[in-house]
Amino acid sequence: MLQLENVNAYYAKLQVLHELSLTIAEGERVGIFGHNGAGKTTLLKSCVGDMADISGSVRYKGQAIVAGQVHLNVRQGIGFVPQGHNVFRELSVERNLRIAGLMHDPAYADTVYALFPILKERQQQLAGSLSGGQQQMLALGMALMTRPRLLLLDEPTTGLAPIIVRDVLASMRAINQSEGTTVVMVEQNVQATLKQVERAVVLKSGRIIFDGPSQQLLAQESLWHLF
Ligand SMILES: Nc1ncnc2c1ncn2[C@@H]1O[C@H](COP(=O)(O)OP(=O)(O)OP(=O)(O)O)[C@@H](O)[C@H]1O
Ligand SMILES: [Mg+2]
Repeated sequence: MLQLENVNAYYAKLQVLHELSLTIAEGERVGIFGHNGAGKTTLLKSCVGDMADISGSVRYKGQAIVAGQVHLNVRQGIGFVPQGHNVFRELSVERNLRIAGLMHDPAYADTVYALFPILKERQQQLAGSLSGGQQQMLALGMALMTRPRLLLLDEPTTGLAPIIVRDVLASMRAINQSEGTTVVMVEQNVQATLKQVERAVVLKSGRIIFDGPSQQLLAQESLWHLF
């Protein structure tokens, strides 16, 4: 479904990804781990065409992802939730979800509310006045409103209480299992994430140094210093 081949990505003179190749099959749940600055965000940005200076090939469902054309690329069925909260702060929860779902099925908001009941409770509240964790859930909900086939999440549980972290990660798995959505998430909550994904990828200085079953990463203590 998603195929990167020999990708090099740069910010001006700084090369962040080095000859990176990665293939993700439809329906997989993949966790991306690594230290701060390892290139995790850059990898996700490369998948949606959000890196201007890039070489190599990035393909989604066989089609080339065009650098610099994020809005067009995501229309092919990619939901991208960037790091940090991305909601319309001056609009209500309900309006945020409706706007995100404009091109799709507004009634899907009910499914999102079922996943995150707190959003239903706060339907009329301005998004900017939600707690950080609630905004995070709303950003996820907005991505889901576009009914993506591939969901790319950059640290979706940052700032959430541990119990909520578990819920959010479990809900990603539920979406994957009920709708077949492919889920790729960058996470700092490694232990909790490994319980919900089946495959783990570890980045170090812009290179993949582990790619295998999450159980294998859990068992291999010698690798734990890498994230
Ligand atoms: N817009 C930018 N301009 C210049 N350098 C950048 C930019 N964004 C990231 N970098 C640099 O690229 C490298 C990789 O950054 P990236 O954001 O991909 O790391 P990350 O693995 O997501 O880290 P974190 O865990 O802190 O989110 C870092 O050295 C960072 O300083
Ligand atoms: Mg990052």
